[in-house]
Amino acid sequence: MKIAMIGSGYVGLVSGVCFADFGHRVVCVDKEASKIEALKRGVMPIYEPGLEDLVANNVRENRLSFTTDIAEGVRGADAVFIGVGTPSRRGDGHADLTYVYAAAREIAAVMDGYTVVVTKSTVPVGTGDEVERIIRETRPDAEFAVVSNPEFLREGAAIADFKRPDRIVVGTTDPRAREVMTEVYRPLFLNQPPILFTERRTSEIIKYAANAFLALKITFINEIADLCEAVGGNVQEVARGIGLDNRIGSKFLHAGPGYGGSCFPKDTRALAKSAQDAGTPLRIVETVIDVNERRKIAMADKVIKACGGSVSGKTIALLGLTFKPNTDDMREAPSLAIVAALEAAGATVRAYDPEGMEHARALMPNVVYCADAYECCEGADALAIVTEWDAFRALDLDRIKRMLKTATIVDLRNIYRADDMRRRGFSYTSVGR
Ligand code: UDX
Repeated sequence: MKIAMIGSGYVGLVSGVCFADFGHRVVCVDKEASKIEALKRGVMPIYEPGLEDLVANNVRENRLSFTTDIAEGVRGADAVFIGVGTPSRRGDGHADLTYVYAAAREIAAVMDGYTVVVTKSTVPVGTGDEVERIIRETRPDAEFAVVSNPEFLREGAAIADFKRPDRIVVGTTDPRAREVMTEVYRPLFLNQPPILFTERRTSEIIKYAANAFLALKITFINEIADLCEAVGGNVQEVARGIGLDNRIGSKFLHAGPGYGGSCFPKDTRALAKSAQDAGTPLRIVETVIDVNERRKIAMADKVIKACGGSVSGKTIALLGLTFKPNTDDMREAPSLAIVAALEAAGATVRAYDPEGMEHARALMPNVVYCADAYECCEGADALAIVTEWDAFRALDLDRIKRMLKTATIVDLRNIYRADDMRRRGFSYTSVGR
């Protein structure tokens, strides 16, 4: 099959290279010439484990290519995927669909033969109808179907998620489009992932509902963590105790500094906005958004409290800046709010992150960036662990203690054991225990 992927960002690139790896012929298209040039040279625009090698292999096998010319990608394609960004619109949180609609127009202008246009970008319910209208308006003669096929990829594990999905959701009622989509995903059938065909609107809702539910689960356990701290209890044991109930499930019950990233914050806002517009506000989702925003600030207060109530004139070492490990993504990372609050309270922040510092530098110019975890702790009054990179799970704690001015650690990801840390002489605070 020939597949065109419009938009070579996170979703487009990972999906495109995985389709190529299935054996399809894939052309990844992007407007940004510098990105396409870099990809042609084998330089990835994002950090994702395994991506670079997979791209190199598939380029070598002539299944994967990159271009800025949309016609080159779309001509002769059986399926054209739209994988462009849908950022939060300033002001109201609605998903900004400018890029999706622009892509639809451009695809329409150059497509030939029966073409399945697939929306992979996360889009509010009803967007597929508008994409269809735009294509029909641009090319009244065209033979096509518009399908919704949301992605459920986690950054840092995106390739594995794509190749071993829990389910594949395809929103279409067009039998011919259904056949094409079945062919697209056929190489995965060996593992027999459930493939769910639904109406297009249902598929669009599934994506938002899934992300909102996961954000809700995290926010729930974060509030339970606060309760544990207030009344005495261990949130990790509570999570295990409830997670073993199959109806609840143990995943996404790790208490921490609040969720961040490119999806949960944006998608919960967009879902809340769509629901408000439809006259059926989702009060639970609205609360999740609010609680999560407050939580990030509350984490700075936790650090301040651990420092005796004030950080004015003090230096705080932060380990981990990205919104989670194994990514260089700083979007809506809790560290952004924590650093802003600590700086506002008069602290100097030193930080180290294995992959995120390049992006972080532009966002947090006053932070002192360090070469490693130990340099980061040198002379600091306290250490806060914000992101649970593997490298931080086995720190030489005696060395850390020598580097710090006072042996104070705030572990916002609960990666160390409280009794162990106290035995080593640290003043140790964690989350919900
Ligand atoms: C998420 C969804 O998992 C994915 O299916 C969707 O397509 C895109 O959004 P991603 O944003 O890459 O993926 O990261 P994820 O691993 O889901 O984590 C999101 C945030 O929640 C991170 O900030 C993480 O630290 C936080 N989190 C996650 C917790 O605080 N506790 C948990 O138990 C799980």
